[in-house]
Amino acid sequence: MHGPRSNLRAMIALVTPRLVLRPWVPADLVPFAAMCADPEVMRFIGDGSAKTFAEARDSITRSQESWTKHGWGLFAVECLETGSFVGSCGLAEPDLLQPLQPSVEIGWRLERASWGQGYATEAAAAVVDWAFTTLHTKRLVAVVHLDNLASHRVADKIGMRREQRTIVPGLSLWVDVYELGQGSWQPAY
Ligand SMILES: CC(C)(COP(=O)(O)OP(=O)(O)OC[C@H]1O[C@@H](n2cnc3c(N)ncnc32)[C@H](O)[C@@H]1OP(=O)(O)O)[C@@H](O)C(=O)NCCC(=O)NCCS
Repeated sequence: MHGPRSNLRAMIALVTPRLVLRPWVPADLVPFAAMCADPEVMRFIGDGSAKTFAEARDSITRSQESWTKHGWGLFAVECLETGSFVGSCGLAEPDLLQPLQPSVEIGWRLERASWGQGYATEAAAAVVDWAFTTLHTKRLVAVVHLDNLASHRVADKIGMRREQRTIVPGLSLWVDVYELGQGSWQPAY
């Protein structure tokens, strides 16, 4: 990334009561790759396969390219108190379902040890707030595998509405598409 605008982008961080969502740093690669190598974490993402170290590194690179191209992307998420890596959350182009483009997809992925504490909801709510109030995004979508019950719940809790059930071409995978429009969103605080 080069130039003054990219420096500004590099400084974007969202702080919630317990988390910091911030730009990627090199030290995130090892814990991010460990998270993406966990079959339980990856079970409902893409084709459901765990990712190699190189694939995880490519994901971070793609996210950094998104920041450069759009001014948004996935954040690394860390615990506010300890600074330890918790996962990732943020925005991406909806790559699984081409008809959804040009919508912006919100996503969340946490390492298993951090599940069940409300972190995904807390991080995702901050991303929604940032997308609508700072980026002026018109519409967010989330694509959730039918059996991913925790993720359905996160989408519900941040106020998303189930819009359609569809099949991902090539993967024979049924998903629910959630949506949230800027006009139907109320800031939580
Ligand atoms: C989805 C994920 C991010 C949720 O993280 P989390 O921090 O545990 O989520 P939260 O605690 O904010 O909320 C989870 C909700 O789902 C509920 N839940 C969790 N597991 C559940 C299950 N098996 N069945 C039903 N509900 C479940 C929780 O009780 C909670 O709801 P509640 O607050 O009403 O009790 C996490 O499980 C994860 O990283 N999964 C793997 C990656 C993934 O699938 N990402 C999403 C791709 S669309």
